[in-house]
Amino acid sequence: MTKLILRALAGETLPTPPIWMMRQAGRYLPEYRATRAEAGDFLKLCYNPDLAAEVTLQPIRRFGFDAAILFADILLLPQALGADLWFETGEGPRLSTITTMAGVDALKPADAIHDHLAPVYETVRILARELPAETTLIGFAGAPWTVATYMIGGRGSPDQAAAHALKAADRATFVALIDRITDATVEYLSMQVQAGAEVVKLFDSWAGSLKGQDFTDFAVKPAARIIAALKARHPGLPIIAFPREAGDGYVGFAKATGADCVALDNSVTPEWAAEHVQVDGCVQGNLAPGHMVTGGQALVDETQRVVQAFSKGPHIFNLGHGITPDASPDNVTLMIETVRASG
Ligand code: CP3
Repeated sequence: MTKLILRALAGETLPTPPIWMMRQAGRYLPEYRATRAEAGDFLKLCYNPDLAAEVTLQPIRRFGFDAAILFADILLLPQALGADLWFETGEGPRLSTITTMAGVDALKPADAIHDHLAPVYETVRILARELPAETTLIGFAGAPWTVATYMIGGRGSPDQAAAHALKAADRATFVALIDRITDATVEYLSMQVQAGAEVVKLFDSWAGSLKGQDFTDFAVKPAARIIAALKARHPGLPIIAFPREAGDGYVGFAKATGADCVALDNSVTPEWAAEHVQVDGCVQGNLAPGHMVTGGQALVDETQRVVQAFSKGPHIFNLGHGITPDASPDNVTLMIETVRASG
């Protein structure tokens, strides 16, 4: 096993951490903007396997990252389940909403998603063929809670109020929706693995708003179910879980879910996370994405701090969240050079 990311995920402490970046294919890159314009819009890009593979490869060519992440979106799955999905320019995603049991019952069954998602699987197949031998291919899906927040609210919101309200007012409908998404996510990720994804990552971007028993019931348990089902079908498949802004919920998350690696956002310090999370295995993260905008000595210092803090255990270097459109590609280069010079 030579790929660095796979070695880190297997628990090996490497002299310098392998690197990739959330949203590494994105609007901060002129070549991405050009390909998106060629596709027409963001969703057409996601469903065009040749162009989706092209934008996945762009940051690999430019920066030589150790992993490529499939270019797609967590909201393609709700669309495959029957929700309407569109993107409002400059605002973000919009979906038709589900707030009743009849709405949940009207969703397609988990195994009926594959025709709609066939272009995504084709993108994975192209990438498995075309990626350099040393680059790991990561597939992904949204975690059930995060996907449910969009399906219930019809859009992103800072506090996920609509989803919390449904959970309080009609728990049976809320739980039924979480269960439907959980089952469909197993099918979706399993097909990505069959198509050639070597690692999968579950994005629970809004896990931070689940508190107490809700965190256990709707962040930990669905992830544990998905991970157990995937590992039964694909023994040895490495899985990264990202319960963003979980705070103390990061502690023990890998053990409780069976994840091989926990991805950390930058609201926790790397020193704290090394002591409390990395003790259980590989971690990924967690440089603040803002450094890709501001650059300079602070970028170098904080990059070295993250590398140093996690140097005694398995670590994959990444940002704490996605790189933003106003970031500079030169700052990405500086970050990579700093990480690779740190060994
Ligand atoms: O990381 C990668 O490069 C892989 C591709 C990827 C995208 N979205 C492409 C994308 C991945 C892994 C995602 C995950 C995703 N999508 C999440 C979870 C991770 C996170 O960021 O918290 C969420 C919540 C979504 C839903 C989503 N998609 C939102 C809220 C938005 C709008 C925000 C924005 O940045 O505009 C998107 C759009 C989106 N997904 C873009 C990209 C490159 C920008 C779209 C564009 O090109 O106009």
